[in-house]
Amino acid sequence: MKAEQSTAKIIDGKAVARAMRDKQRARVEALMAKGVTPGLAVVLVGDNPASALYVSNKVKACEAVGIKSISHRHPATITNEELLVLIGKLNADPNVHGILVQLPLPPHIDMAKVLETIAPEKDVDGFHLYNVGALVVGRQIFPPCTPYGVMNLLEHENIPIEGRNVVVVGASNIVGKPMALMLMARDATVAICHAKTRDLAQFTILADILVVAAGVPKLILPQMVKTGAVVIDVGINRLPNGKVVGDVDFEGVSKKASYITPVPGGVGPMTIAMLLENTIQSAERTAEGH
Ligand code: GUN
Repeated sequence: MKAEQSTAKIIDGKAVARAMRDKQRARVEALMAKGVTPGLAVVLVGDNPASALYVSNKVKACEAVGIKSISHRHPATITNEELLVLIGKLNADPNVHGILVQLPLPPHIDMAKVLETIAPEKDVDGFHLYNVGALVVGRQIFPPCTPYGVMNLLEHENIPIEGRNVVVVGASNIVGKPMALMLMARDATVAICHAKTRDLAQFTILADILVVAAGVPKLILPQMVKTGAVVIDVGINRLPNGKVVGDVDFEGVSKKASYITPVPGGVGPMTIAMLLENTIQSAERTAEGH
């Protein structure tokens, strides 16, 4: 029997991120020639293994382009006050251009307060209210890394956005909401679905571009996708057998979509690439005296 052919183009996020890294390395060298070494402070609280892995990948990626990363690892017993004092010190440190506090934080920590304490001009995750507000009014200062990575993938593939129907599944502050705002800024017609949406398929079937960030394996099945749609899978789920999969039934949906991102190797590598981008941008602003 002839094997069925996949019809969708698989968007290689790893390759796009690698190409970005070459350009980023050159920008870091140019900054260093001006006496500025971009610095990223990475704050990790507690011992969540997924967070520890993400942080170690971010630190390695910094090294690969010449950004100096400064890790601050603290036990889950750190107090709110202690964490706020640390952030205050990082805000005042001229060698630190970006501050990243890995989420989630332990329940006794006031996450909103922590994020609001980060100086907006060092908020390379884009989670501070000032940066969120900027995004709402169509100004991007530090766009949140994951949706920024998705925008870069769409751009890399020359996928038009203006006037298209986009459905975002997942309404988190980190991905779904900023994703919708960035796509609205590009004149897409955007619908946001979430865990309480009834009959998800009636929305997803309309999407020219479907972005899924729900954290549910196989949430999106082929019959929920319009033929020729662009499908961006932001999910990262570890199955009991250890396999990492997204939120989309890749095998089925790739026979119907025109473009699809794989998991792993799609959006994930772009998230880190955009963190480096924001950090370099911050250092460039400093070097230019902004
Ligand atoms: N946890 C999950 N995603 C992210 C992210 O993009 N930034 C931070 N700081 N924490 C996260």
